[in-house]
Amino acid sequence: MFETLPKPRPDGIIALMQAYAADPRMGKIDLGVGVYRDAAGRTPVMQAVKQAEAHIIETQNSKSYLSLAGDSAFLEVMERLLLGGAVPSGRVAAVGTPGGTAAVRQICELIRLARPDAVIWVSAQTWPNHAPLIAAAGLEMRQYRYLEAESGALDRAGLFADLGQAGAGDVVLLHGCCHNPTGVDLAEGDWAELAGMLERAGAVPFIDMAYQGLGEGLDADAGGLRHLAARLPEILVAASCSKNFGLYRDRVGLAMTITPEARRDIMAANLAGLNRKSFAFPPDHGGRVVSTILNDPALRHNWQAELEAMRRRVVQNRADLARALRAALGTDRFGFIAAQRGMFSLLPLPGTQIERLRADHGIYMLGDGRVNMAGLNDQTVAVLAEAIAKTV
Ligand code: LMR
Repeated sequence: MFETLPKPRPDGIIALMQAYAADPRMGKIDLGVGVYRDAAGRTPVMQAVKQAEAHIIETQNSKSYLSLAGDSAFLEVMERLLLGGAVPSGRVAAVGTPGGTAAVRQICELIRLARPDAVIWVSAQTWPNHAPLIAAAGLEMRQYRYLEAESGALDRAGLFADLGQAGAGDVVLLHGCCHNPTGVDLAEGDWAELAGMLERAGAVPFIDMAYQGLGEGLDADAGGLRHLAARLPEILVAASCSKNFGLYRDRVGLAMTITPEARRDIMAANLAGLNRKSFAFPPDHGGRVVSTILNDPALRHNWQAELEAMRRRVVQNRADLARALRAALGTDRFGFIAAQRGMFSLLPLPGTQIERLRADHGIYMLGDGRVNMAGLNDQTVAVLAEAIAKTV
């Protein structure tokens, strides 16, 4: 029966991970998949995570099933981390999911249940898995302009012109912070203007929050989400703990809705039902690590300090790379790298140059020029800048 199966289109990020792993060269540099790396190139388990895990192993006395929504302690701490009290808890329904990816998928499924003909507006540059997840849920996707490629700044006029066409019941997918892949976030005034536009149109924002704490800081990174949540009747949220807790392979995420209080229970029941139909109970361990950390003042303090050190390192890598490129190329063309935030920036390089960087220098970045700024260190910043200069 399977002779009819089509060959799936390869995922660019996963294909690059595999190509990098298969490359035997010693000095190869991985700037592809979005994982944080320390100065020695490791992706360590955070100390606060180790301590929380030790505590869980010591004290946990059952691994029996919980509810379809997962551990309520995890959902409560994540509500506080994301929303900071911006809306009453009576408006919030949430379920745990295996990572932020499944959260995006579950929210798309929820949209389809409510409104199968909904249009999802997605920024023209976005995480490469957004479109497949939206398509897998059978939803229609339209793009809005986002980045001015050469200046590396927000295409504000394009964004507002395109989103001005979003109608009632449309959904607008926004990156909460650390826009992936551009590193360009909305400013406070942009969020306010957007809130007014969505409110007038009756369109629903869908915030993908995968990097809270890695842009400007934990609260600042959630500012846009909190602003929308306080102003609009309905918000959809997908959140991930992969990067800010370093829990990548443990798959820790949640799908959340904010609605008028009268609709909260039906949202919760639908989210739970969607979990039941795909994986039933969400994984527990990683979420328990998160709630153990956030509910313990000392562990939370340590985690925040570690996260802040990671954030600062990425900011430093950005400044260093912008400086190294200026020195190597004699132009300020890449100055925007220092001003952007989060793990990624898009380098406006031709595809042939990106190929040569890989083939001749063992430097792996995505085909659209996306570079993981958290994958650089003191040595590789200089290597990358020189290799870019040599391949121009
Ligand atoms: C990325 O964008 O590289 C990460 O979010 C990893 C992934 O799942 O794609």
